[in-house]
Amino acid sequence: MFGKLLSCIISFIFTCLISSITIAQPDFTSYYCDNSRGNYTISNTYQNNLNTTLFLLPISGNGNGFYTYNSNLGNETIYSVALCRGDVDQDLCRTCVDDSISKLQQICPNQKSAIGYYDRCMLKYSNSTAILRSNDIEFYVFLFNRANASDPERFNGNLTTLINTLISDASSGGDLRKFASGNRTIPDGNITIFALVQCTPDLSNTQCRDCLNGAFLSYTMSYGGRVGGRAYLPMCNFRYENYTFFNGSTLVVPTPPILQPSLPNPPPPPPGINSILFLYSRSI
Ligand SMILES: *[C@@H]1O[C@H](CO)[C@@H](O)[C@H](O)[C@H]1NC(C)=O
Ligand SMILES: *[C@@H]1O[C@H](CO)[C@@H](O)[C@H](O)[C@H]1NC(C)=O
Ligand SMILES: *[C@@H]1O[C@H](CO)[C@@H](O)[C@H](O)[C@H]1NC(C)=O
Ligand SMILES: *[C@@H]1O[C@H](CO)[C@@H](O)[C@H](O)[C@H]1NC(C)=O
Ligand SMILES: *[C@@H]1O[C@H](CO)[C@@H](O)[C@H](O)[C@H]1NC(C)=O
Ligand SMILES: *[C@@H]1O[C@H](CO)[C@@H](O)[C@H](O)[C@H]1NC(C)=O
Ligand SMILES: *[C@@H]1O[C@H](CO)[C@@H](O)[C@H](O)[C@H]1NC(C)=O
Ligand SMILES: *[C@@H]1O[C@H](CO)[C@@H](O)[C@H](O)[C@H]1NC(C)=O
Ligand SMILES: *[C@@H]1O[C@H](CO)[C@@H](O)[C@H](O)[C@H]1NC(C)=O
Ligand SMILES: *[C@@H]1O[C@H](CO)[C@@H](O)[C@H](O)[C@H]1NC(C)=O
Repeated sequence: MFGKLLSCIISFIFTCLISSITIAQPDFTSYYCDNSRGNYTISNTYQNNLNTTLFLLPISGNGNGFYTYNSNLGNETIYSVALCRGDVDQDLCRTCVDDSISKLQQICPNQKSAIGYYDRCMLKYSNSTAILRSNDIEFYVFLFNRANASDPERFNGNLTTLINTLISDASSGGDLRKFASGNRTIPDGNITIFALVQCTPDLSNTQCRDCLNGAFLSYTMSYGGRVGGRAYLPMCNFRYENYTFFNGSTLVVPTPPILQPSLPNPPPPPPGINSILFLYSRSI
């Protein structure tokens, strides 16, 4: 079953994108329409309730780029969550969340559960509480740069040091914000690594740490030593590059790289994480 799903994901990259998306151009970095939780037909109660839920989601922000809204309108509760990257300012965040809301409904018109990842924000909704405060993974994505560092082992050692520091910082954040970004210059290597890590702030400190540790470990097992990479999970994410890409002390935000699909090379699931339905990875 997993193999079949995976091959659909492979073909999704190359063909489904062209054949099935006619309503709107999906510029999500990646998304997933979850058929396992059931479809609904257009204009039934669920869709009305979903529309209402997602209409109210953007005005439920916590002021720190985290939005969550649950509606209990019919006989079923709908849960929705959006999270902006921690360095993104409020206006861009709101725009990103608004875009996600309309895009995800267009792309997944018949699903009760869906998730979409942009570089600047993530949106998920479901009729299941599994999307809240949980390490249940339905869909995650690794992106990696094709280029390897000149000394991959040293690069990865220094990256690990940086990421571990950021994971500590982010996971000890409060329930408003769990985000950390920073850089590390490799001694005598003339290379600076920039990275950020983030969890949805509704996770406990331990859940956040487990999610990021698991994702990073799993990522490095397959893509350690690459000069850049990202992991998007429903409740945590990280990204690193050998150039500045986030708003911090150095305000340089380069244009996003062109994403080039390559054959997925699925790494093992992150440890400590419950169920994996889908994953794929590709190079950038
Ligand atoms: C979500 O919807 C599916 C399909 O309609 C249903 O089987 C499932 O019981 C629902 N889950 C909850 C928690 O209501
Ligand atoms: C939902 O719809 C999709 C595509 O239309 C289909 O492949 C899938 O089997 C359906 N899932 C359920 C639970 O009916
Ligand atoms: C729900 O929202 C979508 C997208 O905004 C819209 O196309 C659709 O007509 C709405 N459906 C209902 C029942 O309001
Ligand atoms: C909610 O009600 C609708 C229609 O009355 C029904 O199809 C659906 O299965 C119900 N959902 C749940 C979770 O009970
Ligand atoms: C970065 O900060 C600048 C200055 O505050 C702001 O204009 C810009 O929109 C920010 N970029 C992002 C991605 O938030
Ligand atoms: C980077 O290293 C990996 C693993 O050793 C290798 O498979 C890949 O081809 C390398 N990439 C380039 C662009 O050389
Ligand atoms: C960081 O890079 C330096 C210089 O290349 C290397 O000597 C050192 O071992 C690296 N640190 C780690 C933790 O790998
Ligand atoms: C480090 O790299 C930059 C840009 O490639 C270069 O301008 C600089 O001279 C280098 N510094 C050293 C010490 O090699
Ligand atoms: C990042 O790494 C790539 C691949 O090694 C290299 O071409 C590029 O110049 C590096 N960028 C910086 C800012 O060092
Ligand atoms: C790296 O981070 C430090 C703070 O830890 C900051 O002062 C410095 O400007 C950053 N370097 C770059 C190149 O962004």
